[in-house]
Amino acid sequence: MKMKTTLALLLIMELYGLSSGLIKQHFFVNRKMTWDFASKYCKTYFHDLSTFTNEDEEQQFLEDALNQTSDAWVGLYTESGVWKWSEDENATRISWDITQPDKADGCAFLRPGRKKLHDKECTAEYPAFCMTNFVLMHQNETWEGALEYCRTHYNDLASLSTKERMDSALLEITKAETEYVWTGLRFLAGDWLWVTGDALNYTAWYKNEQPQCPARDLRCGALDKQTRLWRHRNCEEKLSFFCQYGVMRQTNL
Ligand SMILES: *[C@@H]1O[C@H](CO)[C@@H](O)[C@H](O)[C@H]1NC(C)=O
Ligand SMILES: *[C@@H]1O[C@H](CO)[C@@H](O)[C@H](O)[C@H]1NC(C)=O
Ligand SMILES: *[C@@H]1O[C@H](CO)[C@@H](O)[C@H](O)[C@H]1NC(C)=O
Ligand SMILES: *[C@@H]1O[C@H](CO)[C@@H](O)[C@H](O)[C@H]1NC(C)=O
Repeated sequence: MKMKTTLALLLIMELYGLSSGLIKQHFFVNRKMTWDFASKYCKTYFHDLSTFTNEDEEQQFLEDALNQTSDAWVGLYTESGVWKWSEDENATRISWDITQPDKADGCAFLRPGRKKLHDKECTAEYPAFCMTNFVLMHQNETWEGALEYCRTHYNDLASLSTKERMDSALLEITKAETEYVWTGLRFLAGDWLWVTGDALNYTAWYKNEQPQCPARDLRCGALDKQTRLWRHRNCEEKLSFFCQYGVMRQTNL
């Protein structure tokens, strides 16, 4: 339900040309994992196991999946005989290979080159498809304005807290109209933090220098389109920004 609202909103945004096309970006993770482990892995480094609940999303997924080199999990599993997407939605349309499986429990994987799903017991070990969840917003906002916008319409200002998330944002930033793009990075109470509550573990600061005691007006973090690194900027600057969608908000702000 929540997802549907988000998608409807995305559509409205598209009509006004305010958001980029990026909804979900999928990555083939070539490491053998049970479905449960893969789910945790994707949540840690990306956003979740890949899901594609409508035809457009499925097309996008299949494009991103072209590099797949072996069978790989997607975010679809059964619970009490009902197939569900990891985000907890009942799956209403699934492209099964051959016929729909009638097993009581299982998880779904994609076979390379088939563009269709198969099912398997969830304890089998396969690579997986993980997805990120960033949306590049083309309207120009102050950092606070961007935060408010993302929290109202999506989930939060984007947290680029792992290399995988950063790589995903970098694929998109070329489309930004401003030189810098706001992220959820903020200097507060003597330290830099992600407003999502993610650990500031991975960093990508310009010149590898985390600003220690930034001037009062330079306490907001942006991604620099040119150097492709993090810079601290004046929070009042009006810039494009990355939102993230999803339900896992545990806020720091
Ligand atoms: C697929 O592989 C090509 C070449 O290695 C690479 O440039 C591209 O980014 C990859 N695409 C995805 C979605 O991983
Ligand atoms: C999902 O499917 C189950 C079984 O068909 C049904 O009981 C449940 O109400 C459905 N949930 C939603 C949110 O549609
Ligand atoms: C945002 O600012 C950039 C750079 O100043 C400008 O090119 C762009 O048109 C602005 N976008 C909107 C939607 O106002
Ligand atoms: C930093 O990342 C490592 C490896 O991903 C993880 O084990 C560790 O718990 C993280 N540290 C914090 C403070 O979250």
